[in-house]
Amino acid sequence: MESREISQAVIRRLPRYYRYLGELLESGVERISSNDLSKRMKVTASQIRQDLNNFGGFGQQGYGYNVKYLYTEIGKILGLENDHNFIIIGAGNLGQALANYGSFEKRSFVLKGIFDVNPTLKGMTIRGVPVRMMDELKDYIRENDIEIAVLTIPKGVAVDVARELVEAGIQAIWNFAHVDLNVPDHVIVESVHLSESLMRLSYNINRYHEEHGLKG
Ligand code: NAI
Repeated sequence: MESREISQAVIRRLPRYYRYLGELLESGVERISSNDLSKRMKVTASQIRQDLNNFGGFGQQGYGYNVKYLYTEIGKILGLENDHNFIIIGAGNLGQALANYGSFEKRSFVLKGIFDVNPTLKGMTIRGVPVRMMDELKDYIRENDIEIAVLTIPKGVAVDVARELVEAGIQAIWNFAHVDLNVPDHVIVESVHLSESLMRLSYNINRYHEEHGLKG
């Protein structure tokens, strides 16, 4: 497929298309019009057509979209046709919760290792994956084709650990620590902050209350 610059706004919407199309596939739907998809996703049909036109459209006039084809193509765009090996650094509350979430594998993200500094966690296994100590980290990354590191450690240590990861050749960091990481351009960072999502929720509660004359 021809590669061209696609806006980050479109990229942010693609996982949602992928999820809906996956659900359609599972329920045996073979094709869908942009209008039907629009009703399900509560996005305008023109937005859907515009978004998907970025990739050559995939649709045919009067036929709609071939669900399997569109699902596969969006999966390719999102880089999901190949497995991505990942490790989790920090086996505390959040690290363990993520490690326990088996559905990442369905999306080609394969948990290969869990690391921590706390010796009492050594050898504990989560879904068959043992917690290892940090002195094994660099060799483990190099020897096990690890692409992504998930950072679920305190923010005070995240910058140093990120540096170690870069030295070991990690390609990407999924960062949950509330700190900006200073890494070279070739290392991709995606930061996740649940509290930002909660603040958006709070804003929308307030806005709804104001619009409907309800007390805050
Ligand atoms: P936790 O205290 O339960 O777990 C942190 C783990 O990191 C501990 O097991 C600790 O031994 C380990 N650790 C500390 N220093 C380390 C190092 N240098 N190398 C490897 N492991 C190390 O904390 P919790 O609740 O799991 O939170 C983890 C991080 O995630 C915190 O920074 C927290 O602020 C953040 N967080 C972020 C959220 C988000 O939405 N981005 C949501 C919840 C937590």
